[in-house]
Amino acid sequence: MRNKISIVGAGFVGATAAHWCAVKELGDVVLVDIVEGMPQGKALDLLEAGPIQGYDLNILGTNDYADTANSDIVVVTAGLPRKPGMTREDLVGTNAKIVGGVIENVVKHSPNAIIILVTNPLDTMVYLAYKKSGLPRERIIGQAGILDSARMRTFIAMELNVSVENTHAFVMGGHGDEMVPLPRYSTVAGIPITQLMPPDRVEAIVQRTRKGGGEIVSLLKQGSAFFAPSAATMQMVEAILKDRQMILPCSVYLQGEYGLDDICFGVPVKLGRNGVEQILEIELTAEEQEGLSKSAELIRSSMEALQL
Ligand code: APR
Repeated sequence: MRNKISIVGAGFVGATAAHWCAVKELGDVVLVDIVEGMPQGKALDLLEAGPIQGYDLNILGTNDYADTANSDIVVVTAGLPRKPGMTREDLVGTNAKIVGGVIENVVKHSPNAIIILVTNPLDTMVYLAYKKSGLPRERIIGQAGILDSARMRTFIAMELNVSVENTHAFVMGGHGDEMVPLPRYSTVAGIPITQLMPPDRVEAIVQRTRKGGGEIVSLLKQGSAFFAPSAATMQMVEAILKDRQMILPCSVYLQGEYGLDDICFGVPVKLGRNGVEQILEIELTAEEQEGLSKSAELIRSSMEALQL
């Protein structure tokens, strides 16, 4: 039997995630949206690409959560994207209402699923989903760090004119402009970037990474990034369904790790068939830890606004 992946929100991120999952043949896909006809149309279009791409999958578009029953993974991308000049936090009121309702329906039909959150403000939406769903923290995971690290890797490769495959980047913290890229742990062919470029170039990459989402929003003028966010989501789906035990930065509910409690925050985790198999605690300098605390404060104020 094939795995079942449901994606709620068939907009730019959701539909593109469905595309990546189909091309990688990760499982049957159900696309859900409130707009009538749109998920059905996109799903049929994607199904009709199967004969060309060579995938044999069921891809279904629907407005009915009953079709998502017994999913192995549910990806939540429902909600508004940013407009130019907005921070992710500005979306909290609207998207909390949407995500709250989505989670209720998802859990009702797939109580055993692992839920991946993509809607922004990301860490706050993970927190909301964790509190609303009543599921163990291992099964509520936010996508952000893979995207932020991929952006940083892109900028490192551009700076040094090396293959992106040679790069590794480490970004922790909340998925906002206060995120914490860690140059000490970011490498090219195993060599820390701090040994490969002057401090001002490292700092430029850190700053561009922090504002990476905003850079795309201001270029697009309508909507936000979707190719890289959906590719990052697909990597999480793959790591889980294939039980890869892959270490990736994800937003998860913390219970004392990094000195933080009752908060959802981006940290390195090991992903496998049970969802979060382990949270890794890496050594940080006082300055890096201070960056994390600052990022946590910002996220915490948005979580408190939810009044859960
Ligand atoms: N249930 C299901 N789908 C919903 C609901 C709901 N209650 N409310 C809105 N949607 C759908 C919209 O109809 C739309 O198709 O969510 C989809 C969102 O798609 P886009 O507007 O294209 O936004 P997208 O770029 O995909 O971003 C979605 O991911 O990266 C984040 O910041 C981004 O919060 C945003 C989310």
